[in-house]
Amino acid sequence: MARIVISGSGVYTPPFSVSNEELVDSFNRYVKRFNEEKSVAIEAGELEPLLESSAEFIEKASGIKSRYVLDREGILDPERMCPHLPRRSPEEMSIQCEISVAAAQEAMLRANKKPEEIDAVIVSCSSFERPYPAVAVEVQQALGIKGFAFDMNIACSSATFGIQTAMDSIYRGNTRAVLVLSPEICSGHLNFRDRDSHFIFGDVCTAMLLEREDCTRTSDVFEIVGTKLATTYSTNIYNGFGFLNRTRQESLEEKEMLFRQEGRKVFKEVVPFASEFIKEHLHEHNLAPADLRRVWLHQANLNMNQLISKKLLGREVSDDIAPTILDQYANTAAAGSVICFHQHHEDLADQDLGVLCSFGAGYSVGSVIVRRIVLSQAG
Ligand code: COA
Repeated sequence: MARIVISGSGVYTPPFSVSNEELVDSFNRYVKRFNEEKSVAIEAGELEPLLESSAEFIEKASGIKSRYVLDREGILDPERMCPHLPRRSPEEMSIQCEISVAAAQEAMLRANKKPEEIDAVIVSCSSFERPYPAVAVEVQQALGIKGFAFDMNIACSSATFGIQTAMDSIYRGNTRAVLVLSPEICSGHLNFRDRDSHFIFGDVCTAMLLEREDCTRTSDVFEIVGTKLATTYSTNIYNGFGFLNRTRQESLEEKEMLFRQEGRKVFKEVVPFASEFIKEHLHEHNLAPADLRRVWLHQANLNMNQLISKKLLGREVSDDIAPTILDQYANTAAAGSVICFHQHHEDLADQDLGVLCSFGAGYSVGSVIVRRIVLSQAG
């Protein structure tokens, strides 16, 4: 059986960036107005005043400095605090399809692949703008790809779970090449009125093209040495939005249909889960953490990533080993480790090893060990 490789990656970055200072300014204007409007109840001790947010706290607690978003105005308007992404008719291309096509085209260009050489599209991300028809089928049509397409979701681990799914399909001989796409519009499910989390997420879309080595049209590829996935149930990262919401007598408050988390618990529980998981995975392939030239971690929190890297490698780890993109992009759910791979892989030499690792809601964790290989001739 031919080896399976990643032959191209792509990233669509939205045109608008929002700094911590801008986000905090809008949040604090909302807080001020709320406290003024409710001053009687607050003074009577019936209501707690809202507390202001701080740009210094955000950077210190998370490492995030700014985030890219599909709409700035709606998010920064203290009356709205939600992106404005106008409705599109079923005849128009959906937003997730549009950004998926942009990222996919870059991955296809890098891999030198035509649509007729690709057999499947997997859109794997943490939220979908509609339940059906699958966004992946719309992307498949937009790109002119035959074969099949489907959506899947395992929150922040969606990309690595998608990579294993694509790899299984290629390995079984059902496909030659598969696109794995993660259009993450996280601003759509972020509660911009929640001080604990209003700064966490950004928007982006990533693409990866996986194929059999003997089908490649580029010489610089990454062999997939192995993939490993795990899940264990937790409600510490939770979103109650779903199609049964309307069937309940009591209507849900908006905040219950948006992202919420127990950030401290997630931090404490996920760090050992992810670091031990990568170690085990390497061990199964007779590899050691010291063999890794690069670690492309899920990008949720800088302190968390530094701790995971330290636990994994037994020492402080430089940005050269474990690069960071969350300072500019914030947490982009499934896309984070793929953006990191996309931006930080070209300096790896032939035979260098790396690992992509995602972790998040579920809980879920996914590890993909890759080896840079320079093929002598590509078709
Ligand atoms: N501005 C200023 N202060 C804030 C604040 C804000 N926006 N948000 C919280 N604080 C305050 C709290 O009120 C608290 O004050 P206190 O000590 O007086 O009670 C203090 O800062 C610490 O709050 P805490 O929520 O414990 O912060 P933290 O250090 O845990 O950082 C996260 C918060 C969310 C950045 C961090 O927990 C995290 O990233 N966890 C991992 C999350 C993760 O990976 N999730 C995966 C999602 S896919």
